[in-house]
Amino acid sequence: MNAEMPWDKPPEELTLPADEVHIWRVSLDVASDSLSVLKGTLSGDELRRAGRFFFERDRLHFIAARGVLRSIIGFYLDTDPKVVRFAVAPDGKPQLDERFDIHDVRFNLSHSRGLALYAFTLGREIGVDLERIRKDFDWQPIADRFFTPGEKEKLESMSEAKGYKAFFSCWTLKEAYMKARGKGLALPPNRFEVTVEPTEPPALVTDLDDPEAASRWILHRIDPHRCYAAGLAVERNTYRFRYWLYSPGANQ
Ligand SMILES: CC(C)(COP(=O)(O)OP(=O)(O)OC[C@H]1O[C@@H](n2cnc3c(N)ncnc32)[C@H](O)[C@@H]1OP(=O)(O)O)[C@@H](O)C(=O)NCCC(=O)NCCS
Repeated sequence: MNAEMPWDKPPEELTLPADEVHIWRVSLDVASDSLSVLKGTLSGDELRRAGRFFFERDRLHFIAARGVLRSIIGFYLDTDPKVVRFAVAPDGKPQLDERFDIHDVRFNLSHSRGLALYAFTLGREIGVDLERIRKDFDWQPIADRFFTPGEKEKLESMSEAKGYKAFFSCWTLKEAYMKARGKGLALPPNRFEVTVEPTEPPALVTDLDDPEAASRWILHRIDPHRCYAAGLAVERNTYRFRYWLYSPGANQ
């Protein structure tokens, strides 16, 4: 874990000021009594979706992820998680139903192998992506298909040991930007370029289809755990990043 990234227990009276981005780290392997409480907050649609997972573990992680999302929104809006209402943007990005949320809370979440990250801000689009780092992952075909020639060239110039870490860093930044824009693959990943070198400050270098984008978006790396890479994209402003830990049961 990165000692410079302070993950704290949130205060009891939690607010989301307009100049802050809150990032929550949550383990989705939740004890059964806490999972029942979370499950009790889900809507009929969410329960039906949970029922469609083939693997039990995926089903339980989905229930935990949605229940935690409702709990965190409940903290911010000071409301019962059960009554939180979601909507879906035209290209599939989940958001709060505007009839329900007068504060314009924006969020995005990502989960990978039992860990989840949630990102929240007010009134600006946000995206987050989390991936478990796999040393044996054959990243070259993904880079060939989805990365720009410039990103690929930088990755290929690195040693094997450095290359896979840089790949996951680059991938999560790209996905975070795509998720912030909320367009899925309608935003082709090889049409925009991000920082590849993990030791350099992350940035959107260029977006060929949106020349203003590089000055409008902030990219940020998150260090949730030594086995994971994570990136975040948020519309520009001066932000303070806060990192919260949530353990269902302990915070309830
Ligand atoms: C959902 C999507 C945006 C990301 O999926 P993913 O990386 O597999 O999964 P993550 O865990 O990071 O994110 C899933 C969450 O994102 C949110 N999400 C769903 N659609 C979204 C969209 N269009 N935009 C932003 N967020 C979205 C949901 O909350 C979802 O969680 P849920 O299914 O539990 O409700 C995926 O559909 C996608 O299009 N990914 C692009 C994949 C790609 O080609 N990448 C190339 C490498 S750069």
